[in-house]
Amino acid sequence: MVDILVSREIFISSYKKEYSVSFIKDCIPSVLSSSSEGHFIIDQNFYNLYENSLKQQSNFLEPLIIEATEDNKSLDKMSSYIEELLKRGVKRDHKIIAIGGGIIQDISCFISSTILRGIDWDFVPTTLLAQADSCIGSKSSINVGEYKNILGTFNPPNQIVIDVSFLETLDHKDICSGVGEIIKVHAIKGQDALSEILQDYDELFTNKELMEKYILNSLLYKKELIEIDEFDKGPRNIMNYGHSFGHAIESATNFKIPHGIAVSIGMDLANYVSRELGVSDGSIFLKMHETLQKNYGDFSHYEIPINLLIDALSKDKKNSSHSLKLILPNNEKLFIDSYKNNNQLYEICSDFLVNLMNA
Ligand SMILES: NC(=O)c1ccc[n+]([C@@H]2O[C@H](COP(=O)([O-])OP(=O)(O)OC[C@H]3O[C@@H](n4cnc5c(N)ncnc54)[C@H](O)[C@@H]3O)[C@@H](O)[C@H]2O)c1
Repeated sequence: MVDILVSREIFISSYKKEYSVSFIKDCIPSVLSSSSEGHFIIDQNFYNLYENSLKQQSNFLEPLIIEATEDNKSLDKMSSYIEELLKRGVKRDHKIIAIGGGIIQDISCFISSTILRGIDWDFVPTTLLAQADSCIGSKSSINVGEYKNILGTFNPPNQIVIDVSFLETLDHKDICSGVGEIIKVHAIKGQDALSEILQDYDELFTNKELMEKYILNSLLYKKELIEIDEFDKGPRNIMNYGHSFGHAIESATNFKIPHGIAVSIGMDLANYVSRELGVSDGSIFLKMHETLQKNYGDFSHYEIPINLLIDALSKDKKNSSHSLKLILPNNEKLFIDSYKNNNQLYEICSDFLVNLMNA
């Protein structure tokens, strides 16, 4: 039996059950100690870095190792993972233990909700984006062809274990990607929360305690929305701020831009579109632009072809048959509205990409 030092714990109510999010230092022994019937699905880069600590645990079993690419979370790839788990003897009373970022989460959540009509799963998020945002909310999102995150289920894990020390090995771009989602949820929470993160932005990258505080706050703010609208029928839609444009940017650049960085560009673009359409007076664009631009800075010269962006925007799953659904800020709050995919929108997006993104 291992002594487990839980520094913080929160509980999320869901349609299936209440599940816990625990912040645990040196979490590998504690996760493995409860995993006698577990099948591991592990991110390849994470496994390469932490293989020794994993193998030191007596009940560690040979994992299914998957490289974190968008192609690997496509429907086409699911059958090979499922066949592999079946060969390893997965049973309905077993569970999946997923260790990795958002990609491993999406794959593991999707498989555990469908294999043998559903088995339990635990999740150890190892990227900032997964720790601060995606780990709660129950969603799995799988790509089909060129349609990003178009297929999915709602299936919360039994428990989530966060060890912030895993962030020490993460690339700078993946830290910025997570920070993009942290900024998003603070913008949704309200002007005071947004002002606070914008002010603390630079320090976040060097101050581990501050980062841990923002991870926790992000989860608490997201918890408020997912507990009233787990199935994304109303209030939770707002969590897609920056995402219609973000997903379109990811798709238009063949997924070369990390998700949370595309979302950072997407929020900046949504704020700009809102100002140019006269939906807002532009104060929110001015308030966020400098920080967002810093956050996507390494990718600001990346070419985003406007035709591909507009085409991808029209394939967003929130659209209705005749219009695009965009989440834009007005002067007080974020809201979702319908817009025609017309020349004006094309011109505004084009102007942003050419004149503002890398100015
Ligand atoms: N289901 C949801 O609710 C939800 C929400 C947001 C995003 N997503 C999805 O999540 C994906 C993005 O997730 P992500 O940003 O976590 O990226 P990711 O899973 O692609 O991981 C990013 C990179 O970090 C590496 N990595 C992981 N942990 C590491 C560690 N501790 N040290 C060093 N390297 C490590 C991975 O190998 C990869 O190269 C996208 O596909 C997005 O659509 C899902």
